[in-house]
Amino acid sequence: MKKGKIVNRETWASKMGFILAGAGSAIGLGNIWRFPTTAGQNGGAAFIFIYLFSVIFICLSVLIAELALGRNTKKNPVGAYNSISPHSAWKYFGILGVLTGWGIASFYSVVAGWTLAYIFKTATGFFSSMTSEQISSSFTEFVSNPLSSISLHLIFMSLTMAILFGGVKKGIEKWSKILMPVLLVILFLLVLRSVLLPDSKEGFQFLFKPDWSAITGRSVLAAVGQAFFSLSLGMGTMIVYGSYLSKNENLISSAAWVASLDTIIALMAGLAIFPALFAFGLEPTIGAGLIFVVLPNIFNEMFLGTLFGSGFFILLGIAALTSMISIVEVPVAYFIDEFKWSRKKSVKVAGIGAFCAGIPAALSLGALDGLSNFISIEGRNYGFLDFMNLIFGQYSLMIGSVGVALFTGWKWGKDKIIQEITNGYENFSYGSLYNVFIKFIAPFSLLFLLIYLILNPNAFA
Ligand code: PHE
Repeated sequence: MKKGKIVNRETWASKMGFILAGAGSAIGLGNIWRFPTTAGQNGGAAFIFIYLFSVIFICLSVLIAELALGRNTKKNPVGAYNSISPHSAWKYFGILGVLTGWGIASFYSVVAGWTLAYIFKTATGFFSSMTSEQISSSFTEFVSNPLSSISLHLIFMSLTMAILFGGVKKGIEKWSKILMPVLLVILFLLVLRSVLLPDSKEGFQFLFKPDWSAITGRSVLAAVGQAFFSLSLGMGTMIVYGSYLSKNENLISSAAWVASLDTIIALMAGLAIFPALFAFGLEPTIGAGLIFVVLPNIFNEMFLGTLFGSGFFILLGIAALTSMISIVEVPVAYFIDEFKWSRKKSVKVAGIGAFCAGIPAALSLGALDGLSNFISIEGRNYGFLDFMNLIFGQYSLMIGSVGVALFTGWKWGKDKIIQEITNGYENFSYGSLYNVFIKFIAPFSLLFLLIYLILNPNAFA
């Protein structure tokens, strides 16, 4: 491929296109599956408070930095570090990001695959005559079946690849524009259904009335980690999406839109799930099976449950797909920029690579014992999928975010980043304040948390 490619890099067709694609990346299993699960395990309202605090005071500045780095360099994460600081060790943060994309894609696709099966299970009334225990054991049985786990993983990965073959405008942007509004509508209906149930009050209290005694170091870490995962930060997704952003878009308002939509959807997911959960007398601390085990119970008891149930899983599948696209796009952009491969070849290598890496994760929920009890860290057993989630979905993202913040704040420097944000003509009166956040608050609070995390490896669990 010729050098001219860099100049002709594709851009989003419109600001709306970018916001929907960026929000599409941010909103995913993280909001709808991981957020309620983790909030449920960490005491609800107090967790949510810390989550919101981290979004505003730590994540937002990192999000702006990633978008600015991407737009300025028009590169993938490795290329972005390299073009600002050639031949330096900073590029290893970029390489870590590419690896993280591959690692997260592998297990994300496995969980997303389950949602595909649950669309059909709920739509066909598979659960309708089951008791609570039967629903629960059907989940365990379903996830431990190697054939269905791997086939669903393959189907989901193929869907992702099909969209990525289309590139930025025809692939990512077009699909995000169609899928994101559908998602909002279905979620809104589910929230309405859930909050109008009798006895939903306890759910509201759980979500909005903080019990500060529930806050431990572990729940703080869980909340901050969740915020980074949910906003797709720390592996360069937003560097890549920023690289397709045109010079005349307002970066701050784009970032604020993405962060607000992501947060609203997470809160809506909480509102859709917890009032109903309490109304039916179920436990919030159930863990990873929360949605797959508890929700079919709720839908069984609901008027038009089949409709709302399948609607919910369609929504989850859609949200997961628009995120998955952005996860795989990181290695894809890396191959295109750094190895000068065609988009087609890059998508094939990234997708097939992540599919293979996901096979052990797909077999780690009961199919193979060695993978289901893969490693024990300080007395806690991790299956292979949990382990990948811990390493790539938590440690790597936090390390990557420290890298982005330190690089932007200390190496790239205040003047350059503000120049990129304002583009020379817009007025950004909070430049010095932003500098304090990106130079000190974001990296050092994260470093502090990381050290805590290294000393307490189970803190995110
Ligand atoms: N933010 C996505 C979600 O909430 C997951 C993701 C993580 C996407 C990291 C890109 C990068 O599901």
